[in-house]
Amino acid sequence: MSKTAEVKFEGKSYELPVIEGTEKEIGINIGSLRSESGLITLDPGFKNTGSTKSAITYLDGEKGILRYRGYSIEELADKSTFLEVSYLLIFGHLPSESELSDFQNQIKVHTLVHEDIKKILEGFPSNSHPMGVLSSLVTSLTAFYPESLDPNRSSERVNLSIIRILAKMPTFAAWAYKNEVGHPVNYPDNNLDYCSNFLKMMFALPAEKYDVDPVISSALNKLLILHADHEQNCSTSTVRVVGSSQASLYASISAGINALWGPLHGGANSAVIEMLENIKKDGGDTKKWMAKAKDKNDPFRLMGFGHRVYKNFDPRARIIKKAADDVLDKLGVDDPVLDIAKGLEQVALNDEYFVERKLYPNVDFYSGIIYRALGIPVDMFTVMFALGRLPGWIAQWKEMRENNEPIGRPRQIYVGENLRPYVDLKKR
Ligand code: SDX
Repeated sequence: MSKTAEVKFEGKSYELPVIEGTEKEIGINIGSLRSESGLITLDPGFKNTGSTKSAITYLDGEKGILRYRGYSIEELADKSTFLEVSYLLIFGHLPSESELSDFQNQIKVHTLVHEDIKKILEGFPSNSHPMGVLSSLVTSLTAFYPESLDPNRSSERVNLSIIRILAKMPTFAAWAYKNEVGHPVNYPDNNLDYCSNFLKMMFALPAEKYDVDPVISSALNKLLILHADHEQNCSTSTVRVVGSSQASLYASISAGINALWGPLHGGANSAVIEMLENIKKDGGDTKKWMAKAKDKNDPFRLMGFGHRVYKNFDPRARIIKKAADDVLDKLGVDDPVLDIAKGLEQVALNDEYFVERKLYPNVDFYSGIIYRALGIPVDMFTVMFALGRLPGWIAQWKEMRENNEPIGRPRQIYVGENLRPYVDLKKR
């Protein structure tokens, strides 16, 4: 027996169907609400509004559960690789050996980018924020691969567009960094695995041998897996809404990169390190900064804390916190901001304001400490987030397209002026 919900308004009653997901989540389908009752719903920030049905990622904010296509994030972070997780998210199953090998080889042969992209890169001053460069280079793919503009092409052609951006994003990310530091770019080395190739493109210098440290490559692999998807977050919702107009995959991904840039979203990982550095410079007085975070008159927020969905520990933060200890220990890095971060966490977890509001460390709280230990500069942290989130954005865009979802166009409640006559300039 399918469940229903009842809305009563001005003496009338409206029955609305209730949908139940495979993990027993329930939601009221309000698709017929306006036509039957004239009512719409209002939910700024969509805090209680589901935008779609998705089979990609499941998370339970109360229990701190995160699964990609049913596999727990803990198992995937421990046992899988970023490309295997990318395949899982995009195609819905763990690849066989031959499927994975074929996927890896397809990506290897597409890592190179058109030489003309260097001319676009050279147009950016060397102090350009790498997120702006990255979103521009991704958009430029529409010029080099005009057939990608049509999202309704055959699945083979769409899959080729998917392979191309998965393969070229590390090259773009590394080139954005090289542009920022004013160094010559490195070309991809297809003898290396995905993470090692990226690290070499990032850090190799002319006339110097560069050997990838397996500790760093392994840590990067884990970080990228942990960032790969996160259901309908701000940037993923952006990708889906842009893609719902039948804009191309590359235009949709570029929009997602720009949404991720904000400090309340993916930009938080850079903001966390800047915050921790400020606290360190200020003498490490965590109690003073906690007071600022709780002061409604102070715009300061404890970056890396709180989450729209997780009202318990973000499972990714738990894994990253442990990885931070391991990586810094293996690399022999002693980063004082790690101790400040742990001190802040302890104070926050015992503070009524944070406990009452269920504010826990999120994925961004510890990730920057690892990125920094890997030698990645602060304003590249959000680029790293985008690199990790790319397969999730692709999977969500693909699902939206395959489900032939309608164009995203929310309603509103108008609260402006009522009808009034035009007044000539001389009479105002
Ligand atoms: C990511 O959605 C995703 O899945 C995102 C993400 C992903 O993988 O895609 O997980 C990645 O974006 C993680 C979040 C990174 N952002 C930050 O760390 C920035 C700091 N956090 C906050 O700005 C905030 O917690 C958000 C933006 C993450 C969530 O904001 P919400 O859900 O809109 O909650 P809110 O702003 O309404 O806060 C509720 C209360 C408020 O206090 P009251 O008005 O109830 O008194 O909690 C307070 C807020 O003032 N609050 C904080 C706080 N976060 C919330 N107070 C101090 N410091 C904070 N960090």
